[in-house]
Amino acid sequence: MSIARQPELTPPVGPLVLIGASGLGREILWVCGRAGIAVAGFCDDAPDKQAGTFAGQPLLGSIEQAAAHGSGKICFHVAVGDNRARQRLAERALACGWSPATVIDPSASLAPDAVVAPGVYVGIGSVISSLARVAPFAIVNHHVTVGHEAVLGAFAQLCPGVRVSGNCALGEGALLGSNAVLLPGKSMGDWSVLGAGAVAVSDLVAGAHVVRVR
Ligand SMILES: CC(C)(COP(=O)(O)OP(=O)(O)OC[C@H]1O[C@@H](n2cnc3c(N)ncnc32)[C@H](O)[C@@H]1OP(=O)(O)O)[C@@H](O)C(=O)NCCC(=O)NCCS
Repeated sequence: MSIARQPELTPPVGPLVLIGASGLGREILWVCGRAGIAVAGFCDDAPDKQAGTFAGQPLLGSIEQAAAHGSGKICFHVAVGDNRARQRLAERALACGWSPATVIDPSASLAPDAVVAPGVYVGIGSVISSLARVAPFAIVNHHVTVGHEAVLGAFAQLCPGVRVSGNCALGEGALLGSNAVLLPGKSMGDWSVLGAGAVAVSDLVAGAHVVRVR
């Protein structure tokens, strides 16, 4: 998925369907409350999450079941941490004609010329700096900094405390574990992983899986 320049952020127009009724979903529900975003309920495929409530919100069944019962414009946000799973779920929701919405905590600071695509999550206290670009369905968790002109690919994920320096480039699905650091101008290829607490002093090729200092 390529990065499309968005003229403005894409908060949900109506109540938001959260996809993924587990820990991250609970956390993003909390951030929705902080951001004043109304939530319609959760979709989940798990057999034991098809009816009743989760975190006080209705369980709506699978994406396809909710789409069959819903009417009008439905906005969604995928609250699933696994990058590949988030990609598959986003594709299913898009195939149902749903619209991806950003969830951005009000304490986050985004430069006016930063570009944040639909479906992105930005947690508490994060900073996205000047001319940075964040592609659809990326996760920028709590207390993360994304440096100037850095680029995050679709379905990328920055765990809490990550530092992505200026002019870095992350491919699709790249993952940085908590408190990992990417030095200025370094790149990470598609679906590469930098482990929690690691420091990348050189580029990571696509699919690389590294820990400690590399
Ligand atoms: C990098 C990571 C993905 C590796 O997962 P994995 O492929 O399952 O690797 P394993 O757990 O099998 O560990 C393989 C080896 O690397 C070591 N290792 C794993 N993660 C490490 C890390 N972050 N730093 C240093 N060493 C690490 C393990 O101790 C093990 O060492 P050994 O071979 O000497 O026994 C994972 O450990 C990690 O850091 N994930 C980030 C999680 C995170 O921050 N989550 C936040 C959620 S919000």
